[in-house]
Amino acid sequence: RRHFLSVLDLNPVDVAALLDLAEGFVDLNRQAAKKLDLLKGRTLINLFFENSTRTQSSFELAAKRLGADTINMSPRSSSITKGETLIDTAVTLNAMRPDILVVRHAASGAASLLAQKVSCSVINAGDGQHEHPTQALLDALSMRRAFGRIAGLRVAICGDILHSRVARSNVGLLQMMGAEVRLVGPPTLIPAKADRWGVQVFHDLRQGIAGCDVVMMLRLQLERMDGAFAPSPREYFRFWGLDREKLGAAADHVKVMHPGPMNRGVEIDSDVADDLTISLIQDQVEMGVAARMAVLAALAARLDNA
Ligand code: CP
Repeated sequence: RRHFLSVLDLNPVDVAALLDLAEGFVDLNRQAAKKLDLLKGRTLINLFFENSTRTQSSFELAAKRLGADTINMSPRSSSITKGETLIDTAVTLNAMRPDILVVRHAASGAASLLAQKVSCSVINAGDGQHEHPTQALLDALSMRRAFGRIAGLRVAICGDILHSRVARSNVGLLQMMGAEVRLVGPPTLIPAKADRWGVQVFHDLRQGIAGCDVVMMLRLQLERMDGAFAPSPREYFRFWGLDREKLGAAADHVKVMHPGPMNRGVEIDSDVADDLTISLIQDQVEMGVAARMAVLAALAARLDNA
């Protein structure tokens, strides 16, 4: 397993080992000197065809803190603007002998396609509506640190499930680790086949989050919707926006998560998002660096032993 394309590439033992490894990197990242040489001599290329703040910068920081050389390829300043295809771009970069290509693309399956065309390792940093596996790992790390476990947690993933690769990766990983997962959202934003995912589906926010340990809110992805069918942000917030009053239905010890970027006043109220006694949103960002360091370190160990 030279690539990391899906949470289904992992088993529960792999996940637990990666989370344990990441814990060590959390400690390292809180020190003044943050540098190791586990990836010394290795090269990582970030190839992001969609915008990113968290994922791209945390992969770059993670790789640098482990001693790798990194570059960020921006499609806007590359020969993609002259008509070069996704595959030709990846094959061209591969010829420069990188070790790891981190790919984000709007098409589901893009990372998997490139993995078949290049000799370096490919990490999926989000492919269309399909998967965002390192997001699920960092979310699991955040939950495990907050509750001391993942098994048995009742987790409600809420909002625009239809367009969310974060939801798909979290459903797969959380179920693998023994959590109970609920999907909560309007029927138009829940995939038709979601009832086959082994989750409970709710179409009422208060009912869906009732008694939950974790409420994970998702961004309303208006850019992936046909404008004619997109809900108005104000109406969406009324029914599906998480505010203090609706959150009262969850468990008293509830933790609130959001992968970012947040649309304040659309899917989440600032009063909830910024309450550090319940919000794990900034922890998620911090855990993103540690979780990606763990993925890169595990991958480098495999490359060293290949
Ligand atoms: N959560 C996430 O993938 O954020 P970015 O789009 O900023 O990378």
